[in-house]
Amino acid sequence: MNIVVVGSGYVGLVTGVCFAELGLRVTCMDHDAGKIDRLTMGDIPIYEPGLQNLVRFNQKAGRLSFTTEAAACIGQADAVFIAVGTPTRKGDNHADLQYIFAAARDIAPHLRGYTTVVTKSTVPVGTGRRIASVIRDVNPAASFDMVSNPEFLREGTAIHDFMRPDRVVVGAESPEAVEVMRRLYEPLTRQDVPFVVTTLETAEMAKYAANAFLAMKITFINQMADLCEVSQANVNDVAKIMGLDKRIGSKFLRAGPGYGGSCFPKDTRALAETARSLGVDLGLVSQTMTYNDTRKHKMVDRILASFQGSISGKTLAILGLTFKPGTDDMRDAASLVIVPALKAAGAHLKLYDPKGMEEAQSCLGDDAGEWCANALDTLSGADGAVLITEWDEFRALSPETIAKTLKYPVVVDLRNVYDVESMASAGVTYTSLGRPVASVLSAPVVRAKIEAL
Ligand code: UDX
Repeated sequence: MNIVVVGSGYVGLVTGVCFAELGLRVTCMDHDAGKIDRLTMGDIPIYEPGLQNLVRFNQKAGRLSFTTEAAACIGQADAVFIAVGTPTRKGDNHADLQYIFAAARDIAPHLRGYTTVVTKSTVPVGTGRRIASVIRDVNPAASFDMVSNPEFLREGTAIHDFMRPDRVVVGAESPEAVEVMRRLYEPLTRQDVPFVVTTLETAEMAKYAANAFLAMKITFINQMADLCEVSQANVNDVAKIMGLDKRIGSKFLRAGPGYGGSCFPKDTRALAETARSLGVDLGLVSQTMTYNDTRKHKMVDRILASFQGSISGKTLAILGLTFKPGTDDMRDAASLVIVPALKAAGAHLKLYDPKGMEEAQSCLGDDAGEWCANALDTLSGADGAVLITEWDEFRALSPETIAKTLKYPVVVDLRNVYDVESMASAGVTYTSLGRPVASVLSAPVVRAKIEAL
């Protein structure tokens, strides 16, 4: 089968390459000629583990090509996937659908024979039908059906998530379209991946519901971390105990500085906005968004408190800048709030991220601080460190190394990466999220209580 993927950003590229890997002939289309030139040469504009090799391999095998021209590929396609961005619209919190409708207008005149038009992009409920009507307006003779096939790809593990999904969701209008989707995903469904067929509206809504629920789960554990902090409980253990309950599950219960990335912030905003415009109260989602935004600022207060209220004139090592490890993506990263605030408070910053340096420099500005080459270089001679993103390179640092490399061993860990007692034994003044400080844990009365449990 032939497919075209419109939009060669993160989702479009991973989708196209993975379908090629599954044996389909795939054309990835994008208006950005520079991007298409780079991709044609096997050069990937984003960092995603494994993606570059997969692109080059499938190009060589003749299954994957790139173009800027709809006329060159749409007519031969059995299915056209729309995978363009749906960022937050300027001026309000709705999803900006201009790129979606532009893609629909772009492909419409070139549709030939029966074609399945699939939305991969995350779009508000009702958008699929609006896309169909745009296509019909431009090309009344087109023979096509609309499908909503949301993606659930996490940056950093996107290829695995495509190849081993928890489910494939197909919201479709007709049995013909369902059949096309079944054939496309057959290599996965043969391995028992659940294939859920539903309506267009349900598929569109399910994607938002899943992301909003995960965002809410993170927010819940972050709020529990706040409570643990003032009650000598340990949020890591609370999360573990909760997660062992199969009804809850252990994933997405790691306390942190507040979620970021290309999906949770924009999708929660869009879902809340859809609900508001339809007159439905989605209070849980609104509170999740508000708390998450505030949390990033609260992290700044926490850092200041760890340095007795003043960081003016101090040198701080900042470990990790991207919104999570395994990506170079800076969208809605906690560092975008924390770094400028620390700088404004008078600190000299030493900045480092294993993969996101280029992106971080362009988002934070070259003058945000001193850009370092690795973790040790960053820590060296600093008056303290703040860990924002939990890259393995930072996990690998021993407390002793941290203590002897910093000028003053003060560490604020916003991802609970290190062991509280080991840091204390190494002489580090250590602050993390929702965990009792070592002195409390080792106090004989607390120890006795824990052992008696
Ligand atoms: C997310 C969804 O997981 C994916 O299904 C979707 O379709 C796209 O959006 P992604 O944004 O790549 O994926 O990252 P994810 O791993 O979900 O993390 C999002 C944010 O939540 C990150 O900032 C991460 O650090 C934070 N997070 C995640 C936590 O703070 N705690 C957790 O337990 C999990």
